[in-house]
Amino acid sequence: MTSHLETDSSVGMADQQQKQQQQQQKQKHDKLKEEQQEPHVDDLGCVRDIELTEDHTLHVAEQHGLADDCGCVVWDAALVLVNYLAKQVELGRLDLRGKRVIELGAGTGVVGLTAAALGAAEVLLTDLPHLVQHISGNIKRNGLHHIATAAALQWGQQPLPAPVAAPYDIVLCSDLVYQQHAVQQLLSNMRDLAGPGSVIFASCEYREGAGLEEMWRLMPAYGLQEELVPYTDLHEDWCSPDILVWKIIKQQQKQGKQAPKQIEQQ
Ligand SMILES: C[S@@+](CC[C@H](N)C(=O)[O-])C[C@H]1O[C@@H](n2cnc3c(N)ncnc32)[C@H](O)[C@@H]1O
Repeated sequence: MTSHLETDSSVGMADQQQKQQQQQQKQKHDKLKEEQQEPHVDDLGCVRDIELTEDHTLHVAEQHGLADDCGCVVWDAALVLVNYLAKQVELGRLDLRGKRVIELGAGTGVVGLTAAALGAAEVLLTDLPHLVQHISGNIKRNGLHHIATAAALQWGQQPLPAPVAAPYDIVLCSDLVYQQHAVQQLLSNMRDLAGPGSVIFASCEYREGAGLEEMWRLMPAYGLQEELVPYTDLHEDWCSPDILVWKIIKQQQKQGKQAPKQIEQQ
């Protein structure tokens, strides 16, 4: 009797185990299918929720642990810039509606996505080729693919690649000055992407000897003029004494004044 009961219960258990295995397999299969549809997020990555306004929160995937992960995380200077932009929009000092926007060195794309979420008509998020797919993933994740696109653009690249169609109303640059040798390439992009009425919004963490002084010194030679945003205009919760934000405009070109090609060749 006992042994009969034992046999019955072990048959039941085998049945249960098989069902469990089938269920696990189905879950695995569903997960794989989901991963194929979702933008890829590295095992070591995470998705950050970035609240811009009461109505707008961005979901931005980062990728950690890569050999060169400079463009794979949201930098503090980006958080200062996005919150400054959101505050300006909220106060009615900045109207992004109908504006064409480009972001340089977009990284995760958080700054350009902010412009898209807050009303811009068209946003091109650019960075080095290996980051384009990750930025596209973040565009999709936020349902902003009807406004924003990702493309490769290396600073100083001439001619500008096809999806880039200058001039843009707004050029966004967050934390891009950290390599002395790249300063002039970056300045030449700013000059070529901006038109007479454009505004370049740039934020940067101050790092001694990383090229900021060089950038300020060379700006007039590239026909650019910068104005530091007063600390009090930044978002009160999203500011730091070592993160600066500027508005940069293009100076009116004087007749006969040549673009500083000779500087670029130094
Ligand atoms: C410090 S990260 C800032 C990323 C992002 N803007 C942010 O603030 O979160 C610098 C970014 O500049 C990009 N970058 C560096 N050199 C570049 C170049 N020569 N051309 C285009 N992008 C470049 C990197 O790939 C990286 O995404």
